[in-house]
Amino acid sequence: MKKSVVLYKRLSAELMARLHEQVEVQLIDPSTAAGLAQLHDALPKAQGLLGASLKVDDALLSLAPQLEVVSSVSVGVDNYAIEAFNQRGVLLTNTPDVLTETTADTGFALILAAARRVVELDRWIRAGHWQAAIGPSHFGCDVQGKTLGIVGMGRIGEALARRAAAGFGMQVLYHSRNPRPEVEQRYGAGYRSLSELLQQSDFVCLTVPLSPATENLISHEQLALMKPSAILINIARGKVLDEAALIDALQHQRIRGAGLDVMVQEPLPQDSPLLQLDNLVLTPHIGSATLETREAMARCAVDNLLAGLAGERPANLVNPSAWPRRSGI
Ligand code: DGY
Repeated sequence: MKKSVVLYKRLSAELMARLHEQVEVQLIDPSTAAGLAQLHDALPKAQGLLGASLKVDDALLSLAPQLEVVSSVSVGVDNYAIEAFNQRGVLLTNTPDVLTETTADTGFALILAAARRVVELDRWIRAGHWQAAIGPSHFGCDVQGKTLGIVGMGRIGEALARRAAAGFGMQVLYHSRNPRPEVEQRYGAGYRSLSELLQQSDFVCLTVPLSPATENLISHEQLALMKPSAILINIARGKVLDEAALIDALQHQRIRGAGLDVMVQEPLPQDSPLLQLDNLVLTPHIGSATLETREAMARCAVDNLLAGLAGERPANLVNPSAWPRRSGI
């Protein structure tokens, strides 16, 4: 008998066809009340779940006693209660690697947009203000030759370092749990404490995963260490940055600007003070959102799911501690 899988994300026709060949599929949209009720009805017989942006905690897992694999179409796993997965012997998989370069591109898009005031000046033209040659009040700041501080030197951090060093002749500083000598060698990067990095960088880019250790990693005290001319970019998770502290710093021009791809509340509420700031560029969590990369992520998630359901160890297993129980070792 085919295993039962709940999809909470629509996939391409090709991937849907592949899934239908091997498993029973139920597609559900849990963002609506009706969809959530459908999800709750489907969980008791589900052996697999695949999707993104759904919080899977112990309460939800308790409704799915037959669950074997949850395949997330994301690299970030902050939506999942990993300890509960381990205790219940449920495998959790994610989609690293395939989104690394695209997400680093998003980081650089925000760096360039904030430095050269691309979005602000686009709005200015559309509002009919371009009546004469521009002057210093419209000038931005250089990116090339400056110092980029990368907080979190994982795959995405390294892809940023490569762009910065090879493409923009930037000096790269980084802070991470452990020094990465190979990154230092490849990109001439320098390891710094977080405080030193904040003090010395012209651009600071956050790439750390969200965890209790990184929640509000950057708040008033850290922002106060940054150069008044510096720009802060967040492509990690909204909660890594204390949003109220950033708003205060931007309102009082304590730093030059910021670019955020992630926010504490997504979608961003229409009354958010972030929307009032000209020295801030916002994008709606587009880190990996290109057609090619989202398809590659979905393919990777399907591979992980089908491997797990077939009793094979998935390539991107997040919680190896659950594997012995699942594989019967
Ligand atoms: C990821 O893959 O974690 C992206 O941030 C999308 O959620």
